[in-house]
Amino acid sequence: MTEQDFILKSYNSNIENGSVKWSSPSNIALVKYWGKKEHQIPENPSISFTLSDCKTTTEVTYTKKENKDFSFDIYFEGEQNEAFKPKIQTFFERIETYMPFLKDYHFKIETSNTFPHSSGIASSASGMSAIALCLMSIEKELSAIQNESEESHNYFNNKASFLARLGSGSACRSIEGELVVWGKNESTESSDLYGVKFEGDVHPNFHEYQDAILLVDKGEKQVSSTVGHKLMFGHPFAKERFSQAHHNLAKLKVILASGDLKAFVKIVESEALTLHAMMMTSMPYFILMKPNTLEIINKIWEYRAENDSNICFTLDAGANVHVLFPKAEKDQVYEFIKSELVAYCQNGHYICDSVGKGAKRL
Ligand code: DP6
Repeated sequence: MTEQDFILKSYNSNIENGSVKWSSPSNIALVKYWGKKEHQIPENPSISFTLSDCKTTTEVTYTKKENKDFSFDIYFEGEQNEAFKPKIQTFFERIETYMPFLKDYHFKIETSNTFPHSSGIASSASGMSAIALCLMSIEKELSAIQNESEESHNYFNNKASFLARLGSGSACRSIEGELVVWGKNESTESSDLYGVKFEGDVHPNFHEYQDAILLVDKGEKQVSSTVGHKLMFGHPFAKERFSQAHHNLAKLKVILASGDLKAFVKIVESEALTLHAMMMTSMPYFILMKPNTLEIINKIWEYRAENDSNICFTLDAGANVHVLFPKAEKDQVYEFIKSELVAYCQNGHYICDSVGKGAKRL
């Protein structure tokens, strides 16, 4: 598929109004996306677990209007929200070529998250994928051709992911589950334009994998991901990093099939630390980890060694720690989290999640 394939060619302009609703999850990358080219094209491939419970629910109500400019209102958790407007405006501008009906309607966008507001959890992946899916449902309602074939289902998901990517790169990996690859590579079916469900073998060790998100710092990040990505331009280690991501993805594919948990831990933790190493070696350099992030990492390493556990950590572009572990270790690991790690979480907060199957129309 190319960009051209995602341009809506014709639609029924007689539909006056309607409403659609989706819930879409967050995702956690195992091989990280860090560095992008123009138009949100990633510099390297990434793969993520789709989460189950951390999600955004978005309802979009559309009403016909005179075609002049974009028109929308956003309600976040019941209250009108002006702060999100510029982001949505930019998003609409980026996707208008692909959705020529956007200026024909006024949109009321009502959105809420299952995870606490300002928990420091990136809501852009779930938020942008949820709105992209709503717009796709509207496109489907306006489309002259109504078709329920597998082909049209795939087109729907691919285009939803394509649009979500233009909102926020990692959002393109939130449409489907349980593992999604984004970015052209030689090991898996893939595209730079949208996320693709990972179709390789997945050993039962990885079924219902658990993710406990330890909220170390709920504050606003000092450096946004968008700025961080840009600092990979001219970064002294960029070339090596991008090629490492290809190798790690190839290795991970084999590991997912074989169920080798020890090898999984090594790749996942190395990816997390490499991501933060890139931040620390950018110019300007920055650190998003906090002292408690390191305390938690050290505790996890201790626990793993002492208990022959397969627990590991990963990090996003922030201080919070995602603790990943097989379902078989759930009871013991939660005991450990409660007794040893909660002390390092802001107000003792953490979120229990696991791998999920992707977005749902409500
Ligand atoms: C560190 O997708 O938030 O979470 O494309 O600028 O919106 P933009 O960035 P974003 O980058 C997140 C990167 C990451 C790693 C990952 O999810 O792969």
